[in-house]
Amino acid sequence: MIIKECRVNHLDHPMGYQFDTLSFSWKVENALGKYSSFARIQIAESEHFETVLYDSGKTVLDSRGTSVSINLRPRTRYYWTVTVWSDAGEEAQSNLQWFETGKMDEPWAGHWITCNSEEKRHPIFHRYLSFAKPVKRARLYICGLGFYEAAINGVKIGDEYLTPYCNDYFSWLQYQTFDITKELQGSTDLAITLGNGWYKGRFGYNVIRNRTPVFSRTWKLIAEVRVEFEDDTDVVIGTDENWLVTRSNILFSDNYDGEIVDARLEETPAEPAMYCAESMGKLTARYSVPVREVERLSPIKVMHTPADEWVLDLGQNQAGIFEFNVCEPEGTEILLQFGEIMQDGNFYRGNLRGAKAEYRFLSDGKPHCLKPHFTFYGYRYVKVQGVSVVRKEDFTALVLSSALEKTGSLHTGNDKLNRLIQNVEWSLTSNYIDIPADCPQRDERMGWTGDAQVFSGTACNLRACYPFFRKFLKDMAQEQKKLGGMVPNVVPAASYEGCSSAWGDAACIIPWNLYLYYGDKSIIQEHFEDMRAWVDYIRTVDGTDHGWRSVFHYGDWLGLDHPSGDPAAYRGATENGLIADVYYRNSVQIVAKSAGLLGMYDIQKQYEELSGSILNGIKEEYFTPSGKVCQDTQTAHLLALHFGLSKNPKKEEERLIYSLESAKRIMRTGFIGTPLLCPVLTEIGRTDMAYHFLFNENYPGWLYEVNLGATTIWERWNSVLPSGAINPSGMNSLNHYAFGSILEWMIHTVGGIAPIESCPGFRKAKLAPIPDIRANYAETILKTASGDWKLNWRLEDGARFHLKVTVPFDCQGQLTLPYAPDDIFNHATNPIFQNVSDGVCILEPGSYQLSYVMTRSAEHSLKEIPRWVEGGL
Ligand code: BGC
Repeated sequence: MIIKECRVNHLDHPMGYQFDTLSFSWKVENALGKYSSFARIQIAESEHFETVLYDSGKTVLDSRGTSVSINLRPRTRYYWTVTVWSDAGEEAQSNLQWFETGKMDEPWAGHWITCNSEEKRHPIFHRYLSFAKPVKRARLYICGLGFYEAAINGVKIGDEYLTPYCNDYFSWLQYQTFDITKELQGSTDLAITLGNGWYKGRFGYNVIRNRTPVFSRTWKLIAEVRVEFEDDTDVVIGTDENWLVTRSNILFSDNYDGEIVDARLEETPAEPAMYCAESMGKLTARYSVPVREVERLSPIKVMHTPADEWVLDLGQNQAGIFEFNVCEPEGTEILLQFGEIMQDGNFYRGNLRGAKAEYRFLSDGKPHCLKPHFTFYGYRYVKVQGVSVVRKEDFTALVLSSALEKTGSLHTGNDKLNRLIQNVEWSLTSNYIDIPADCPQRDERMGWTGDAQVFSGTACNLRACYPFFRKFLKDMAQEQKKLGGMVPNVVPAASYEGCSSAWGDAACIIPWNLYLYYGDKSIIQEHFEDMRAWVDYIRTVDGTDHGWRSVFHYGDWLGLDHPSGDPAAYRGATENGLIADVYYRNSVQIVAKSAGLLGMYDIQKQYEELSGSILNGIKEEYFTPSGKVCQDTQTAHLLALHFGLSKNPKKEEERLIYSLESAKRIMRTGFIGTPLLCPVLTEIGRTDMAYHFLFNENYPGWLYEVNLGATTIWERWNSVLPSGAINPSGMNSLNHYAFGSILEWMIHTVGGIAPIESCPGFRKAKLAPIPDIRANYAETILKTASGDWKLNWRLEDGARFHLKVTVPFDCQGQLTLPYAPDDIFNHATNPIFQNVSDGVCILEPGSYQLSYVMTRSAEHSLKEIPRWVEGGL
């Protein structure tokens, strides 16, 4: 038996993070036993555990998240281990683990310093450090605004990009901690270059078109170097007026517009740094997961276009920066421009709107490897100017993303489906750059809460997202504090005002999804009051006359059934008031369940009652007396079924099917309806029809995009028209993950592994794959908080079903066999049938195999297309 993946707050050996909450988790592998009997966590300040600060004792602990409360000291490394006992009498202890605190509440020795911020050339703050004695341990605590990049003797410290990350800097900002022990020996030049970033560049909805930064125009830096020597003495060096400022050759930087560098400029003579006012927001230990280079891509070709352009094609849309080797005569201007799609064989970037997305470099005649420092681009194509010979081997794309471990995968026997899955993965990678953004390329790239919540379940299947969303929820809570519980449509709001149902409901849906997927209730504990503040805010707006229905809402955003019939319209036809009430009730239910989870039963009851009264209101306004939803839109039927609103669900199911069939099985759903479409069809036993939508290759559909060469998920169903021409709408990103939320259903139903709310974090999982001949085969691997689940199915001759399942240690699988013959449970020699309850095989930890001839051929769904309902209901 071994103990692996030991984490604190779901982070691997975290240094300098915020530890207001301490939650420990781990996984067990290679055990002879099946279940964990006991565990024990011990925490000490020294590696040898001379003084133990915390000892849980041998007791029952939750491996998905055990909260511990101890008093921590600043800048201290804590060591911990976990020991686990299995039901087979095994005992195993983890390797020695650690986490290290940041400065906590201690005052900073460093002061905020600045320089002349009118000067365009980006500043480099220097401090020369020279120590005669050997250094035992050294740390750098630092925050530089807008972006900072620290280097020692010209070598970048750490491997992170876009630090100190994206927050509402009026409310809070993060400092990072770096271990610089190795770098700090001897004489060193600590040099910190600042860029504009989210703080000082263009960011935020209201300033997209004008150039005033939301937060400030002033560059600022605070840093503290703490050095301990081998002789046990120490020294602290903080930012002060003794620091010197020189100017780099970066003339301009902006997230949307790119970077300008003039290599001919010499570093300027040093000016003294100046003290400045403290930062506006509270300087806080980091929550953000590092943004790193997660992959490198080489161009697949160089193209010379009809418009006489040289364009590199990466073969993959993505987000990040690049390295480009050049050597051009002095004074040459090299210009790179970034785009997502070619049009008529030529370079195009009209859909980036006001984002210039460029890199300009003025050559000094020497060879250089160009690499931007303070910007990022969303791109597949690069138009290159000013380079004598454009060669693909000179260019490398550095894909940037918040570094989240890949935990889930689905692979099928269908190439187009596999491409779709990859497209979802790429849209996640490109848009999870510190905040869950809508898109990575145009002048937006903001934390749209609606997009974030719609996709959060999918993301939790694919990546270890807990700490990423924990940071986003912290951002959200900061906004709510200023807005009386209201959740703005984008977080950080960055001057945006206003909220909407389904967008603001992210405040409840995201924490609940984190609890569902990772099983750690500390996220609910941390955010219960914020979740509650959101529903209480709605309650105030709702008043006594259902005011929430009539305020602004985005509705079924990008749905295709707008009454005008205009395919470029923004909203679907489903009434906003219905959507608003349904999401309100859902959030209230989440608050009630959360209160129950935290043992606050009076509060639970109070919100259950509120949920009941909202339901009555919905029925009164949006349902007929006999219980049918009044609106005949696909999304309205989906809402009615998914949220259990109909008095007569059977009738509602028929109406949904009728409405889909009479629309010739063409989906009309937007942000609200689309994520529900396939799950609801599966819930009502019509996975055959869900497969129809999945495999539909015409507009609108997921494979329509794949057929047109998409390598990421598009914002609109028709972002690109069948001719290959881009939809001229002013809002059209080719890298927008919201409709990628289909992958959550695919993992649950095609792949066949889904979480169970009563036993979250995959302690128990629903195993219910539903095969289809067009997929023919599927393999799902989910490295969940409870262990690694595997499910693999394969069809032989369309009718024989082969299944392999692995249930991890301390878990239970609940397996439903698709189209199984009635007598399958009778000849039960296979261990799969050891414990069957109501047709569900209850599986203990272990690996299982089975094959049988299905009662219904997996070709069924092909045969049923098209099937019309004539004459109506
Ligand atoms: C964004 C979204 C967002 C929407 C609000 C768009 O500009 O890109 O995806 O949710 O506005 O409706």
